[in-house]
Amino acid sequence: MKSDGIVDWEREAPQWPALLGAARGPGPAVAPADDVLWRVYGPLLRSNVTQASFVIGQMGQSLDGRIATAGGQSHYINGPAAILHLHRLRALVDAVVIGVGTAIADDPQLTVRHVTGPQPARVVIDPKGRLPASARVLEPDGARRIVIGTGAAPAVAGVEHMRLSPAGDGLAPADIIGALRSAGLNRILIEGGGQTVSRFLEAGALDRLHVMVSSMVIGSGPVGLSFGGIKDLKDAVRPRVVTYALPGGDTLFDCALEKE
Ligand SMILES: NC(=O)c1ccc[n+]([C@@H]2O[C@H](COP(=O)([O-])OP(=O)(O)OC[C@H]3O[C@@H](n4cnc5c(N)ncnc54)[C@H](OP(=O)(O)O)[C@@H]3O)[C@@H](O)[C@H]2O)c1
Repeated sequence: MKSDGIVDWEREAPQWPALLGAARGPGPAVAPADDVLWRVYGPLLRSNVTQASFVIGQMGQSLDGRIATAGGQSHYINGPAAILHLHRLRALVDAVVIGVGTAIADDPQLTVRHVTGPQPARVVIDPKGRLPASARVLEPDGARRIVIGTGAAPAVAGVEHMRLSPAGDGLAPADIIGALRSAGLNRILIEGGGQTVSRFLEAGALDRLHVMVSSMVIGSGPVGLSFGGIKDLKDAVRPRVVTYALPGGDTLFDCALEKE
């Protein structure tokens, strides 16, 4: 594991317009080799995204792996620099995906507000139709809104519905990615919560995983990444990891999972 410092993490980073341009432009992103922000975000900008999707998961957690207290409080485990980072990820992708558990628990907007940039499509995985029509992700603001389920379409005007068949104990991450690709959404952020990101990780469906670790121990409460146990450590997921120290005490674990 390598460590690297964040040298330029401020809100109006001078590299940001070029990073945004690379995300929207047709050509390959030519990254300055010595620039920290290009090292963090450059992998999302690979040029062949029209031939294959790029899927990044993210998880913000405490030192002991918790994403909330036992009572459900999750704001704010990570600090302002981590929130800025999350908004940068949103601005660089085509679609932000959450599980219905997060939509119900947090009622997030999933919009880009802390940086300049386009609004990604907002996607909720909701196999049982539990998402309330009043959820903020469904509010009409010009961004695409998509619900992925197994039954009837939600009764909200303008919301796209993708119906998938269950595979095993849920929807296969590969099917979800395939459905989003067929809708023209190739760069995908799996933003949470724990179950949703874990399903993608376990299925080998993530190219990248950003784990943001705060300098606190919560001691109890839901953990972020969790899936079926392995018997032997040789079967553990072993990404190539670079860490970045953020102002405020959070540490970003940038985990590369795609094949070299
Ligand atoms: N720290 C962070 O970075 C972060 C980010 C986001 C959320 N959160 C926190 O995470 C918590 C919620 O997380 P969570 O793990 O309970 O819920 P979640 O991952 O948001 O949603 C899980 C639910 O989504 C559906 N789902 C997702 N993927 C599926 C698949 N492949 N196949 C079938 N169903 C799928 C299922 O719904 P059904 O049960 O209806 O079948 C499942 O129970 C909240 O406390 C929230 O604050 C933390």
